Amino acid sequence: MACYRGRRHGIGNLAHVTFGAAHGPRVVEIGDPGAIALAADVLRGGGLVAIPTETVYGLAADMRRRDAVAAVFRVKGRPTSHPLIVHLADADDLDAFAASVSPAVRKLASAFWPGPLSLLIDHGGSVPADVVGGRPAAAFRVPANTATRSVIRSLGSPVVAPSANRFGGVSPTTAAHVVASLHTDVDLVLDGGPCPVGLESTILDTTVDPMQLLRPGAVLVEELESILGAPVAEPTGDSRAPGMLPSHYAPAATLLLSTNEGEARRILADLPDHERPARVIGAGLEPGAFAASLYTSLRLADDEGIRTVIAVVPPAVGIGRAVADRLQRASGRRGVTPR
Ligand code: TXA
Ligand code: MG
Repeated sequence: MACYRGRRHGIGNLAHVTFGAAHGPRVVEIGDPGAIALAADVLRGGGLVAIPTETVYGLAADMRRRDAVAAVFRVKGRPTSHPLIVHLADADDLDAFAASVSPAVRKLASAFWPGPLSLLIDHGGSVPADVVGGRPAAAFRVPANTATRSVIRSLGSPVVAPSANRFGGVSPTTAAHVVASLHTDVDLVLDGGPCPVGLESTILDTTVDPMQLLRPGAVLVEELESILGAPVAEPTGDSRAPGMLPSHYAPAATLLLSTNEGEARRILADLPDHERPARVIGAGLEPGAFAASLYTSLRLADDEGIRTVIAVVPPAVGIGRAVADRLQRASGRRGVTPR
């Protein structure tokens, strides 16, 4: 499938690329000479490229190509009503795609971009309707990975990029995770090593007053409030971002939650045989280290046939709040964060 998509759109200068459908997608180190130009060419031809970011790997498509955007939804198995984040090369590019940029949004962008913050802003029709599910606002972000931003710059258009996993599954934080999740449904994987943050970006809805936190991440509420000089509210109304669904980011194993290591060990000891093998994750880890390793731990547990994972949930402060949020969703329960 991958090579046909490339050929159909006549990516002439990719003649040397062997997509290797039988063996998996083409994986290229992002630092390799030609990797950035190659990725931009694949995107320009309507192909899908897995891109490293500081949060998780994204499944990128050229925002302007309806066929490629449709392929993102198809490959992920994601409802088309769930909008995609628009990834920009530079904060200055926001002016071209936002209906207007308020002083508050400009302050946030200059404080946190490039970085793990997605800002929901009215797009005034500059973002195609299929990207945003027909909504008036789009989520914009400038990822921190400089090579990934070079790809976007070289393409000359923003890319849409959801996490490069099937819908509802665990986000990828390494190139190997992407290959394991998407196989040849992705045309090219840019390997930029493990994602340093390991959890998806913070999403802030800037279209409401006060602004609302739609998804906690590595940019903390306190940091947002200190730049804004105003409080940030909890989300209200219907789930506007599917990351807010109670069940998401889920492994195949049953995930049980505990508040401390002692409790986790007791749960482990009491498990009946049919719920084993089982393991504890997160014990003794700093919340930041737990964030960076969480998705790898969940994938590893599945790969090793672990039936029950018992997580020690960190207190919901700092990055611990995002870890607790993802653990709650991965366990199929509503978040511990106040809402
Ligand atoms: O860190 C991240 O944000 C990663 C990397 C690849 O950038 N991307 C990511 O994308 O997590 P995704 O599609 O897996 O999650 C995006 C979340 C979804 O919950 C989606 O509903 C919400 O953002 N979202 C995107 N655009 C939106 C919009 N216009 N209105 C409301 N929610 C939106
Ligand atoms: Mg996702």
